[in-house]
Amino acid sequence: MILYFSATGNTRFIAKELASRLDDECLDLLKRIREKDYSPITSDKPFVVCVPVYVCEIPPFIIDLIRNTPFEGNKNIYFVFTSGGYSGICSTMAKRLARKKGLNYMGSADFKMPRNYIANSTYPELSEEEIRHRIDVSYKHIPEIARLIKDEQKLVKLSKHVWLFEILITVPFTPVWTRIKQGVKRFSVSDKCIGCRKCANLCPLKVIRADEKGRPVWDARMCAHCMSCIQNCPVEAIEYGDITPPKKRYTFERYGITKTPKP
Ligand SMILES: Cc1cc2nc3c(=O)[nH]c(=O)nc-3n(C[C@H](O)[C@H](O)[C@H](O)COP(=O)(O)O)c2cc1C
Ligand code: SF4
Ligand code: SF4
Repeated sequence: MILYFSATGNTRFIAKELASRLDDECLDLLKRIREKDYSPITSDKPFVVCVPVYVCEIPPFIIDLIRNTPFEGNKNIYFVFTSGGYSGICSTMAKRLARKKGLNYMGSADFKMPRNYIANSTYPELSEEEIRHRIDVSYKHIPEIARLIKDEQKLVKLSKHVWLFEILITVPFTPVWTRIKQGVKRFSVSDKCIGCRKCANLCPLKVIRADEKGRPVWDARMCAHCMSCIQNCPVEAIEYGDITPPKKRYTFERYGITKTPKP
């Protein structure tokens, strides 16, 4: 069973490609995350959890869901991370999570994909060429990982090694960073909004409420900054302060890349 969360399509792409090669089911976790639905998930095949990296870690709402959801059937669990190039301490977190659930940790794999985070100015925007290059390289990497999972072999050296110093830096750093940087105050919506409610329906934390015209109202102080609302708006009506107006939007689907699954 392939389980995934994806805000802008990178992880969905990898998850679906894996599912097709493994001839396995693919479960989008968005609804479960939104509803805090912790009902059991059963699979005869190994569990493969595919998630994006947020601030060097597995996003807290994913940890919460996996920790509280009984996984029944197969005892093996794999993790697949998509990131902009640095998966931080995710594989260590995954190993710990598997152990706590009483499952066999079978390893993690990293995919370097286009970066979707546009609410700060730290990184330069990627060129179209670089975006397509990253997707192509990742695509070529999929069959090897699918084969190992199919044979229920361990994934060795397919994710970065986590050094102790990374854990010592990340564990205190990430909560501080998220508290300072992941407020919702700077989100705004322009007159371009057509009231389609897509942003409200996609928000994994249900932070967005649609007003009577269907326009978004951010109803909390903080959020996951997953970028789903801002990146998936069909008319680019959402902005984040003065950072995003000059920036191009990114979703995997926008690139119209359809790879033919090769079983
Ligand atoms: C809140 C947030 C934090 C992120 N932190 C990291 C990070 O620490 N390292 C990294 O390489 N990419 C980071 N990224 C980039 C995403 O992990 C990457 O683009 C991922 O493939 C997005 O997956 P999705 O399209 O399935 O949502 C971050 C993105 C977001 C939204
Ligand atoms: S997705 Fe965009 S157009 Fe649709 S309601 Fe949200 S802001 Fe408005
Ligand atoms: S409000 Fe925050 S958590 Fe919700 S979709 Fe937008 S960025 Fe993601």
